Amino acid sequence: RAILHGDLRGEDVIVVSNREPYIHQYRRADGGIEVQRPASGLVTALEPVMRACSGVWIATGSGSADRAVVDANDRVAVPPERPSYQLRRIWLSPEEEAGYYYGFANEGLWPLCHIAHVRPTFRSGDWAHYLAANRRFAEAVVREAKTDDPIVLVQDYHFALLPRMIHESLPDATVITFWHIPWPNPESFAICPWALEILNGLLGSNILGFHTQFHCNNFVDTVDRLIEARVDRETFTVSQGGKLTAVRRYPISIAWPPVEDMVGKPVADCRHDVRAGNGLPPGQLIGIGVDRLDYTKGIIERFLAVERLFELNPQRIGQFTFIQIAAPSRSSIDEYRHHEEAVNALAARINARFSGPAPAILLKVEHHEAARVYEYYRAAEVCFVGSLHDGMNLVAKEFVAARDDERGVLVLSQFTGAARELPEALVVNPYDVDQCAAALELALAMPPEEQGDRMRLMRRLISEFNVYRWAGRMLLDAALMRRRSKLPDNPV
Ligand code: F6P
Repeated sequence: RAILHGDLRGEDVIVVSNREPYIHQYRRADGGIEVQRPASGLVTALEPVMRACSGVWIATGSGSADRAVVDANDRVAVPPERPSYQLRRIWLSPEEEAGYYYGFANEGLWPLCHIAHVRPTFRSGDWAHYLAANRRFAEAVVREAKTDDPIVLVQDYHFALLPRMIHESLPDATVITFWHIPWPNPESFAICPWALEILNGLLGSNILGFHTQFHCNNFVDTVDRLIEARVDRETFTVSQGGKLTAVRRYPISIAWPPVEDMVGKPVADCRHDVRAGNGLPPGQLIGIGVDRLDYTKGIIERFLAVERLFELNPQRIGQFTFIQIAAPSRSSIDEYRHHEEAVNALAARINARFSGPAPAILLKVEHHEAARVYEYYRAAEVCFVGSLHDGMNLVAKEFVAARDDERGVLVLSQFTGAARELPEALVVNPYDVDQCAAALELALAMPPEEQGDRMRLMRRLISEFNVYRWAGRMLLDAALMRRRSKLPDNPV
């Protein structure tokens, strides 16, 4: 945190993401405005960084009371309880949102980059909106820049064209782009009809970050295969038309130590309140899953593993409940609606087979505030992160952060970035139902000493490689580049 304060003092820092960190939802009867923190790994990671360094965060306005709180420049100071930076909102029309966000970003790029066997859909109309939305955000960056060399942190697959656009308008800006989702292999990426435009757009960045080295390799291979550019595999840089882009691995993380509100409530009270609040008997064993309701998260496979656990271990029936918190997400897209129906139907089928005095699966399709989610983490015997494919997955790290009692077991999909950093979890293949069921039983039966040994190792890693280090490393690399670029050309 100190690095961020020190290094960014006096710098002109702008973050761009689609999702805003605070949504002003609606006006309550008492006149106050209900504010929500969205279920987003990106927001979880970047918000503490922005609190530490101030600056401007540009994002799409999405709440029905969002317009009511902004000034004439569409800005509002946040966090609401202790303002420390500016949130600048961009207003998209329903057509723009349908084409840019639901269409190109989430029916095209999202399934293209995740191996979840959902076919990407590309429409030229969506592409036109994506291009136009990127242009609008680029204009906002130029307007918000206080200098001609701001540091701009571009977030995610919604803005692949933005780095090039910023570079064209502000050639001295330092653009750090972070791609929060996986990058596929060149054959898969080439499916996209606008693959070249996307690569050229991203290569407007000074630094392009991914969570894992594997995704850096995939990106560099894709560039090498599809466009004219010089790829240097020693330095992991790509140069194109005199512009150099460093491709780097920066595994994202969470704030450490976790905010006091999250872990202040004693574990025993969390256990009591979660059980009582859900009508579960005292002593009921609890498994927890926390995800957006998204087909990449492997919720279906996870429920099948719970079903197999009961088939193989009948003594667990009525003794163990798996609670799945599923935040509604992107529900205008057919694939997401069908997925929600399938998840509901499967939970009902398994509950009809295996509920005892308490349900086998408790599916809670609603938004939960972060402090409430932490109570669930602290109450659970086991947390099951079963993504079919995931850039990092911060739920895994949040669960570990929540367990200052050094108890609880993490069952973690091998297809998450987190699995590379947390090998002390029970790492599973989410497609292997028997293996996942065995891991759940192992977790429920694990002696406390072994839970402690595993938890301590994971907590040590996350405390050291926390989100400040994630941001700090990118910014230090950027600072070095800026200093180098200001030196006169080599005279010899
Ligand atoms: O990390 C991937 C991501 O798409 C983020 O960009 C986003 O904030 C989060 O998942 C939640 O998705 P959405 O913003 O579409 O609700």
